[in-house]
Amino acid sequence: MKKLLDNITAEVTKAFVEAGYEEKFGKVTLSNRPDLCEFQCNGAMAAAKQYKKAPFMIADDVAARLQGQEMFASVESVKPGFLNLKLSEEYLAEYLREMQADERYGCEKTAEPKTIIVDYGGANVAKPLHVGHLRSAVIGESVKRMSRYIGHNVIGDVHLGDWGLQMGLIITELHERKPELVYFDEAYEGEYPEEAPFTISELEEIYPTASGKSKEDAAYKEAAMQATFELQKGRRGYIALWKHILSVSIADLKKNYDSLNVSFDLWKGESDADPYIAPMAEQMKKDGFAYMSEGALVVDVSEERDAKEIPPCMILKSDGASLYTTTDLATIVWRMKDYHPDQMVYLADKRQELHFVQVFRCAKKTGLVDDSTELKFIGFGTMNGKDGKPFKTREGGVMRLEKLVGDIQNEMYQKISENDTMEKEDAEKTAKQVALSAIKYGDLSNQASKDYIFDIDRFISFEGNTGPYILYTIVRIKSILKKYAQSGKSAADYTIQAAHSASEKNLMLELARFNEVMTNAAEELAPHKICAYIYSLANALNHFYHETKIMVEEDAAVQAGYIRLLELTRDVLETCIDVLGFDAPEKM
Ligand code: ARG
Repeated sequence: MKKLLDNITAEVTKAFVEAGYEEKFGKVTLSNRPDLCEFQCNGAMAAAKQYKKAPFMIADDVAARLQGQEMFASVESVKPGFLNLKLSEEYLAEYLREMQADERYGCEKTAEPKTIIVDYGGANVAKPLHVGHLRSAVIGESVKRMSRYIGHNVIGDVHLGDWGLQMGLIITELHERKPELVYFDEAYEGEYPEEAPFTISELEEIYPTASGKSKEDAAYKEAAMQATFELQKGRRGYIALWKHILSVSIADLKKNYDSLNVSFDLWKGESDADPYIAPMAEQMKKDGFAYMSEGALVVDVSEERDAKEIPPCMILKSDGASLYTTTDLATIVWRMKDYHPDQMVYLADKRQELHFVQVFRCAKKTGLVDDSTELKFIGFGTMNGKDGKPFKTREGGVMRLEKLVGDIQNEMYQKISENDTMEKEDAEKTAKQVALSAIKYGDLSNQASKDYIFDIDRFISFEGNTGPYILYTIVRIKSILKKYAQSGKSAADYTIQAAHSASEKNLMLELARFNEVMTNAAEELAPHKICAYIYSLANALNHFYHETKIMVEEDAAVQAGYIRLLELTRDVLETCIDVLGFDAPEKM
């Protein structure tokens, strides 16, 4: 369906043209004075300059041509030259009926579907997920879903950190603990056991121990670096161990991401880039882009317009080892080969911005991607505690994601079981659902690049701009619909009616924005715009609900019309939260 604003703009533009003015003056926007009108056009002010006329005369002329138009309930020209518009109730109702008849509620798919790879999650194998990874997962999942919703072919890739020093550290520590394992015997030529020689809890304990030791003991660190080097060179026993580390760790990561309603199409990692590194570096040298500088292979990526000097992009260290930039570049190589994406979107902490500037420039300059390939970095801010400092546990340690999610689920369970008669099992399931909405909405309702305060008490509240409030609104609608059905009635043969009250019209106007909001949010990769929209939609619904006697309405058609309107509101809200990555329970 066409966007409502576009339809209105088309009508007003026609009137401008008929009155002898250029098309461009007919642009209509949402009113910034909702007390006076619903939509406004300021084109007469600009036209006045160009045509050297009084703006009011132009506005008056255009308004006269719009009088009696079936789209509008009223068209007013006001001094010095604004057009104030109110939509006709019938036109609006018809627009919503069309939305309701469409399975996508009027939101058209893009005319130019792209192949998009979203690189998010970014978990590091064998290290527990911490809250920093939460933002990447939550925002990335939503970006993936909204791009998919508007019709792009989207592939989500977790891009595991599975090739770095943490692997060498774990190997070194395992060697110290269990030197008898066959993996450490270079002469061994047989098969390796299928069972991993450690569990996930051991693994999670091994890494921090090893990491701590390496900071104190230079020889230990040297051994870990050597192990990393040998792993990357393909030492058999280390590769076998590394595969165990990977599979044990991935099983655990999947569980964690599942609990966040986050899932990936690809479980690739930095290690998958490895086979592409040597040929890529060769090509860059051959093409004259890469050169040796202080022993390292680098590519210049600075540009004249840079206000600050951008250092060269390192391709290989002097010992031939690869870096974070190297694996990211070589990952672009296989992504282009296997998927040829039109766009790659990366989610990471905004402090990684320089890294991505270097990688993107280098990829473009050396021709790893086509000119038309878009490389986008969404750098997100820090999640802070109430004290404004990075979020920590009560004891001041790094907060593990599992713990954070568990804590919020518990608080939510307390809240839900306090005032309800729900079975324990249902209450637990509902608590999980509502807790997830609290966490995700709390994050997504902020512009990604900003730091935000993780305020559990506020996020889990059923009132205010929160996830639980949105769910509560959906549950409220569902319960009205259930009551209506239980009274033996059906609204199936009825349609949405022209608004009977201001609050009903306001709800209808909010619903009619769905198409535009969803499209814009997806184009700008901006989940916070969807949050802002559903918050005002939920407010409009609750206001309508308080002002309207729905269940006792005697006119069957009017009542059924309300029910149809509630159904559309539920559907639009549920579509939006699905795109944000959470869903609503039946009761709460
Ligand atoms: N593993 C990285 C980290 O924890 C994030 C990876 C982001 N994605 C990328 N392609 N570099 O910081």
